[in-house]
This record gives sequence, C-alpha cells and structure tokens, in this order.
Amino acid sequence: MYVDIGKILKGEMEGKKASIRGWVHRQRGSGNLNFIVLRDASGRIQCAIKKEKVGEKVFSEASQVYIESSVEISGTVKKDERAPGGWELQVEDFRMVSRGEPFPISKDLSEEFLLDVRHLWLRSRKLVAAMKARHHLVNYLREYLDGDGFYEIVPPVITKSQCEGGSTLFAMDYFGEPAYLSQSGQLYAEVMAFGLGKVYAFAPSFRAEKSRTIRHLAEYWHLEPEMAWYSHEQNMKLQEDLVSYAVQKFVKEHPDLLEELERDPKKLKVVKAPFPRMLYDDAVEQVNKLGGKMEIGQDFGADEEAILTKEYEKPLFVEKFPKEIKAFYMREDPDKPGYVLNNDLLAPEGHGEMIGGSERIWDYNELVTRMKASGLDPNGDMKWYVDLRRYGSVPHSGFGMGVERLTKWVLGLNHIRDAIPFPRTITRCYP
Ligand code: 4AD
Ligand code: MG
Repeated sequence: MYVDIGKILKGEMEGKKASIRGWVHRQRGSGNLNFIVLRDASGRIQCAIKKEKVGEKVFSEASQVYIESSVEISGTVKKDERAPGGWELQVEDFRMVSRGEPFPISKDLSEEFLLDVRHLWLRSRKLVAAMKARHHLVNYLREYLDGDGFYEIVPPVITKSQCEGGSTLFAMDYFGEPAYLSQSGQLYAEVMAFGLGKVYAFAPSFRAEKSRTIRHLAEYWHLEPEMAWYSHEQNMKLQEDLVSYAVQKFVKEHPDLLEELERDPKKLKVVKAPFPRMLYDDAVEQVNKLGGKMEIGQDFGADEEAILTKEYEKPLFVEKFPKEIKAFYMREDPDKPGYVLNNDLLAPEGHGEMIGGSERIWDYNELVTRMKASGLDPNGDMKWYVDLRRYGSVPHSGFGMGVERLTKWVLGLNHIRDAIPFPRTITRCYP
C-alpha cells in the first residue's frame, strides 16, 4: 500500500512505516548517506538513504537517480525540523521504476526553452500549483452558479456566426463551406436561456489575436452565463457575487497554493462585493488624468486598463460604452442614447479585463437595424439568432469570463500562459 506524501506531511504517520512513490525532485549525497527529495502530486519529502541500512547494491542504485527519475521508496517516518516540510523518511527499501535520461530542465533556462519543453515543465512546482488553483477556481465558479439555479449547456465549437467581429476569426473548411471556430458561445446560450431560464456555457473560445501580449491566448476557456429576464443591473450584481464567492472560497481553502505561488492572500481577502463602478466617459477621463492618452470613442487597451486599475484593491466595473465600439447585440441605454447597457469587469493591480457583459437587444426591429449598421445580414448565417426576437422574446443579459484571465489575476501571474497547460498564442502551437 502506497501513501500520498501529503498524508505524511500532515503528521498522520509519525513513527510508522510508509511506502511512497513518485519522481525525484532533488538528490545529493556523500559516501554513505544519500538524500532524495521525492515528490508526488500531493507534496515533497526528504528521504535519507544510509548505506549500512539498505546495503551496497540498493545504495548504489539510489545514488544513480536523475532529476525526475521515477522511484518507489519504503521506510520509517520521522519528524525532523531540518528537513524541508519538517518530515523525513528513513529509507529501508528503494526501487527504481524508470531512471530515464538526464532531465533537460535545470536552473536559468530561457522562457522560450521552457515553452519548448512545456510537456516536462508542467511538472514544476509553480505550474503544478497553478493548475491545481485553476481547477479549484473553476469548481467554485460552477458551484456558485449551480447553487443559484443555473443549468450548464454546451454550445457548438464550429459555427457560422461571427459573435465578436471578423478580425479575430479562425476560419476553417467545413465540408467545402466556410465556418469558424467559436469566438463565444453567447448566441447559443441566449437560445438556451429562453428554454432553461438561467444557463452557462463553459467551453473553449478561439481568437486569432494578431498581437503578442501577456493576456491574450488564441484558445481560452470561456465561462458564459446567460439569464432570461435579467437587467444590466442584475447582470453586474451576479458578476460581483460570482467573483467574490470564488475568490473568498479559494483564499479560505487553499492558502498552501497561494504560498507556493508567493501570492499575498491579503490582496484577495478584500475582494468582496460590491465592486466599485465607473462610467465609460469617466474612465476615459481618469486614464488621461493618470498619464494615459485616450479620446471618447476609443476602447481601452491593456495599457489603459493597467493605468486604470493599478491603484484598485477590488475589481473595477466600467459600464456604458459608446455603441460604435461595441458588439452588435448590446442594448442601447434608453436613458443615454449612443451608449449601451454593457460592462467590463477589470481585475485590479493592473491585470485588466476579465469579464465582458451586457444586456442584449431583445427587440426585433432594434436588432435588425443594429445588425445592418454593423454590416451583418439579418437573413444570413445568423437568421436563427434574429428569430429569437420574433417568437416570445424577453429582456435578458449575460457575460463572458476568461477563466485564464481570472486565474492570472488571482494567482498574480506575470503571463496568462501559466494559467493554462498548453498555451496557444500567435507564435506557438507546440507542444
Ligand atoms: O469581451 P469578450 O470578447 O466578450 C464576448 O465574447 C461576449 N460574447 C461574452 C458574453 O457576453 N457571453 O470576451 C469575454 C472575456 C473577456 O473579458 C476576457 O476575459 C476573455 O473573454 N477573453 C480572452 N481571454 C484570453 N485570451 C483572449 N484572446 C481573450 N479574448 C477575450
Ligand atoms: Mg471585451
């Protein structure tokens, strides 16, 4: 019977015999004493191998491990303040499972090289912690929505619709017809909301982003709630409640991961609804005051969002953008013509946009007019979407959250690529 290293680290096995298996994290030795730090998915522990205890043959084999060799080790658990983690396994038996070859990753390697060996680098402490954290965050988001009466739905990945404009579409050949990889499941979530009330899609979205930035992926995971009868106001309330829930639960349950990633939990403990709000016009003014350069009618780029959110502790809502710079489906504000009932939610500390949402146009004539103005054919590939406004349309709202953007901010990562195992960017589709 093998035990998880984490169980030993919790102090549940003091003085007992234990068998563990995993990968060699580190190894150092001298004449008759050899230390292997072994890791498995749950932790790392120092194993002390004495020649007099295991015999010449086993000792010699254990001395020949490489970093990342896979091994099985048995011994007695002992408390030892000097050992990393405070516990040591005094080895009685050792078995090599696969010695392998010398591991290509050592200290001080370039980012590019680490991306080339991403399939091996994903075993690193930092990436293991980030992947665990991502898993938990996604679970908490789902947990919140499930508890609030949402149904999970699955949108298609191959579509004919251009949800977010033509410039970032990945085109493909669909049996001789043009089709695209989905930029967003929103339009399909709207369909489902008229049947199921409150729904969310969680699926990959694709953006042929032509630029190289620390927050753009060509393929990312998109959480997209869509709610029948919800107003713009209710939409924003849901966003702040959802984000607060996931962040608070994560801080409470996983201080170990935050520590591993050197992320200060104090920065997250303050993230509780309500979040501050700013109108688009005021946000532009604010950017200019803080040294940026923007005009009304321009959208915020990464630099402007960084300037705007640097001093904030909580995420910041920016709402009511000019309709010209926003997607065709966003409803115009009846009280502020020329502006739409939308919002971005910007992560603090300079991280920037992690959610985009809006109340949707639900009136048939309004939608047709706006589609035409945006160069879209209401009788073309999105006719079905227009149809929703012909048969029992109701007010509704929704939003999309990039899960990697959320993860990047919560974990304080420098680059979005470390929030997903196999990042797809303009320069990389390998491994
Ligand atoms: O603001 P976006 O483009 O909005 C939509 O796609 C809407 N249809 C969503 C909806 O209302 N259901 O994208 C939504 C979010 C952004 O706020 C960002 O978090 C993420 O998706 N996102 C990206 N994440 C990583 N890489 C990219 N290239 C991203 N583009 C958008
Ligand atoms: Mg957006």
